[in-house]
Amino acid sequence: MITREQLIQKYREFFESHGHKWVAGASLVPENDPTVLFTTAGMHPLVPYLMGENHAEGKRIANAQKCIRTDDIDEVGDATHQTFFEMLGNWSFGDYFKSEAIQWSYEFLTDPKWLGLDVAKLAVTVFAGDQDAPFDTEAYDLWIKTGIKPQRIAKLPKSDNWWGPAGQVGPCGPDTEMFYWTGSDKAPAEFDPKDTRWVEIWNNVFMQYNKTEDGKFVPLKQTNVDTGMGLVRTLAVINGQADNYQTELFWLIIQKIEQISGKKYADHLIEFRIVADHITAAIFAIADDVLPSNKGAGYITRRLIRRAISKMHALGVKGACVYQIGLEVVHLYQQDYSKLADKSILETLEQEEKKFLATLVLGLKQLDSCKNPDGKFAFNLFQTYGFPVEMTMEQMRLQKIGFDKGQLLREFGQEMTAHQDLSRTASAGMFKGGLADASEITTKYHTATHLLQAALRQVLGTEVYQRGSNITAERMRFDFSYPDKMTDDQIAQVEQLVNGWIKDSLVVQMEEMSPAEAKQSGALGIFDDKYGSKVKVYSVGKTSREICGGPHVSNTKELGLFKITKEEASSAGVRRIKATLI
Ligand code: SER
Repeated sequence: MITREQLIQKYREFFESHGHKWVAGASLVPENDPTVLFTTAGMHPLVPYLMGENHAEGKRIANAQKCIRTDDIDEVGDATHQTFFEMLGNWSFGDYFKSEAIQWSYEFLTDPKWLGLDVAKLAVTVFAGDQDAPFDTEAYDLWIKTGIKPQRIAKLPKSDNWWGPAGQVGPCGPDTEMFYWTGSDKAPAEFDPKDTRWVEIWNNVFMQYNKTEDGKFVPLKQTNVDTGMGLVRTLAVINGQADNYQTELFWLIIQKIEQISGKKYADHLIEFRIVADHITAAIFAIADDVLPSNKGAGYITRRLIRRAISKMHALGVKGACVYQIGLEVVHLYQQDYSKLADKSILETLEQEEKKFLATLVLGLKQLDSCKNPDGKFAFNLFQTYGFPVEMTMEQMRLQKIGFDKGQLLREFGQEMTAHQDLSRTASAGMFKGGLADASEITTKYHTATHLLQAALRQVLGTEVYQRGSNITAERMRFDFSYPDKMTDDQIAQVEQLVNGWIKDSLVVQMEEMSPAEAKQSGALGIFDDKYGSKVKVYSVGKTSREICGGPHVSNTKELGLFKITKEEASSAGVRRIKATLI
C-alpha cells in the first residue's frame, strides 16, 4: 500500500533528482486566464512560462496542482472520473524535451525504486498526425526504445492526443498518454484504448506550437514539456483498488455517506460517487472564494452542492448532511491545504444546503406531476425552487420524462433573458425566506428601489442617479451618484419619505411609449442606445416615474416597512445603500 503523501513524496524526490524545483500549486481560480472558470489543468497558471517568460525557480519545476474539470461532470459516477482532482506534474520551460520526458516517465512508473509498476500492464498512445502536425515518430521511437511493444502503442488523432487551449489561441502540441491495465485477468497483448479497464494515469504534453488567431500552428520559440499524473487514479492503480473511491482520498467519505444514509456503497455506486466528488470539489471551490451563486464559476459551485444534495435525497436522506460529509473532506486535506481549516467554508456549504432543502421537495413534486416538460417549466423550477437546469434534466431522465435537450435549453435561455431582472437577482440569498415565492419578494424590492431613488433625489438633490442595483430575497442594494457620506438625519428623512409613500397606498402603473416620449414625460432613464423602439414607463403615484422592464407590485401598500441598514462608499463619487423590507 502506498499513501497519497508517499506518492507525492516519491514524485517530488524523483524529479528533484533530475534537477526540478518543487513549487506550490496555484489557486483553482486562474489569475491570468479568462478563458476558463477554473484551473482545469496544471498549465493554466503556467501559461506565461510556456510562452517564454522566465520562471523564478528556473526551467524545470514540479508540483501538485488541484483542478476542477466540469467537462467530465456527466462521467462522474464511473470508477475513474472526478470533477475535482490533483495532478502531479513535471515541467520543462524550453529545457528538456521528448527524450528525457518519456525516459523519466517510464523509469518512474516501472523502476522498483520508484513505483515499480508491472511493465506487462503498461500501454501508451501517441499522436497519429494530421494536416496541422505530423505523426509523432519521435515519441513512438522513444517508447519502443524503453521496451514497450508496438502492439501496446496506439496512434490516435487530435481529439485524443493533443493538448492545448481548446479552440483558442496559445501553446499546444501532441501528447503521449500512459495507461495501466486494471482488469482482473491478464492484460491483453494488444492495447485497445476503448477498453475502460485500461486506465489513463499520466500524460506528457509536448508543447511545440502556438495556435494563432487565424487557426495556424506556428512552432513555438521554445519547446516545453507539461505532464499531468492523476493522483487518485495512480493511487488506485498502484494499490490494486477497484476504483478511485476505494482509495484513502474517498473511502472515509464513502463510509460517512453509508453511515448517514444507512445504505451500502456497493448498492448505490453512482450516487455515492457523485456525492463524494461533488462535496470535495465544492469545498475546494469555496476555499478559493468561489461561493455558490447564479453566475459563472459560482454557479458551478452551486450546481455541485445541489446535485450532491439531490443524490443524498435519492438515497433517502431528507435532512441536513453536507456538514458531516464535508468535515471528512476537510480532515483529509487540511494538512496540505491549510485554507480548508477556515470554519466559514463548511458554514457556506450548510447555508446553501438549508436554502436548497427548503425547496427541494416542492420542486421534486412539481417534476413528478410535470405534464409539459419544456424550457418554461425548467425555468420555473430554477427560479422558484432553485433547481439548476442541468439537475432538472437529470431528474427528468431518471423519471423517464421525455424531452428534447436542445429545445429545452433554448427555451430556458429565452425565459432567462425575458426575466433577466429577476434572474440577476436570484442570488445566494434567494431562498432564505423559506418557502416564500422568490419572485414575489424580489418584485417588492424592485418597486422599493424606485421609491428609494425618488426619495434620495428629494433629500439630496436631483444630481442623484441610479448607478447600479442588486436584489436578493433578504435585501436590496442601490448604488447612486453622490459625492458625500449621508448624515444620519438624511438617512432618516429618506426612510420617512419611502415609508410615507408605502402608507399612502400609491398605485403603480405601467405605460408603453417610445424612448423620446418617455424622456419628454419626465421619466428617469439612461437615454442611450440601450433602448429599443418602445419602452415601459412605471410610475408610482406622482412620486416616481422611471423607464424599467419591471415587474412591480400594483400598490405600494404591499411593501411593508422600509429600513436602510447600511450607507457606505461604493467607488469614487458613488454611494451604496443597503435596505430591507420587513
Ligand atoms: N495538461 C495535461 C493534462 O491535463 C498534462 O498536464 O492532462
